[in-house]
Amino acid sequence: MQPLVTTTRLTLRDWSTDDAPAALAIYGSSEVAHWLTPVLGRIADVDAMRAVLEQWQQEQPGLTPPQGRWAIERNDDGAVVGGVGIRLLPPDAEDLELSWQLNPDEWGKGYATEAARGLITWAFTQDIDELFAVARPNNARALATVKRLDMQWVGETTKYYGLNLQVYRLRPGDLQG
Ligand SMILES: CC(C)(COP(=O)(O)OP(=O)(O)OC[C@H]1O[C@@H](n2cnc3c(N)ncnc32)[C@H](O)[C@@H]1OP(=O)(O)O)[C@@H](O)C(=O)NCCC(=O)NCCS
Repeated sequence: MQPLVTTTRLTLRDWSTDDAPAALAIYGSSEVAHWLTPVLGRIADVDAMRAVLEQWQQEQPGLTPPQGRWAIERNDDGAVVGGVGIRLLPPDAEDLELSWQLNPDEWGKGYATEAARGLITWAFTQDIDELFAVARPNNARALATVKRLDMQWVGETTKYYGLNLQVYRLRPGDLQG
C-alpha cells in the first residue's frame, strides 16, 4: 500500500479491514467517541468497526483530493495509533474540515500534531487555499492541537451539525517552516 504521507514517527495510509481491532481501540473508546457523536457514534465491537472501515474503503476512491480518511501508523512498530480525515462540512459542502482521533493510550505524545502537519502540507499541494477545524468549546485537547498547528481563530457557529463549535482556519501562509 502506497502511503500518503510519511513523517519522522508516523505514516498516513489508507485504512484496511485488518485494522479493525486497532481502529476499535480508537472509535470504540468512549473518550474519543464522546467528541465525535453525533457525527460518528461509539463503535460497539470489532464487526461493527470492520463494517465502518469497509465503508470508508469503498468511499475513498470517489472522494476528490484532499478529501479522505487515513490511518495513522507508527513507523517504529507498525501500530495504528489514530486516524485523520479531511471532508466537506455540512450543510453547504464548501469548507474542508481537518479532523483527527487518537487511541487514548497515545494522547500526549504529539502524534496528532505531527500527523496533521504532514497531512496539511500534502493537502495544500491539492489546489485548495484553506482548511478548517471545528471543536466544541470544552474539547481542550483538540483546541490545544489546533493552536499548536497555528490555525487561526474564526469564531463560533452552530451551522455545522447543529452543535455550538469553535472554528479555526489555516491558509498556506500560516504554515510555520
Ligand atoms: C484531539 C486529540 C487527537 C489530541 O491528542 P493529543 O495527543 O493531545 O494531541 P497532540 O498531538 O497535539 O499532542 C500534544 C501533547 O503531546 C505532547 N508532546 C510530546 N511530544 C510532542 C511532540 N514531539 N510534538 C508536539 N507535542 C508533543 C505535548 O506536550 C502535549 O502534551 P499535553 O497534552 O500533556 O500538553 C485527542 O485528544 C483525541 O483523539 N481526542 C478525541 C477526538 C477529538 O476530539 N478529535 C478532534 C475533533 S475531530
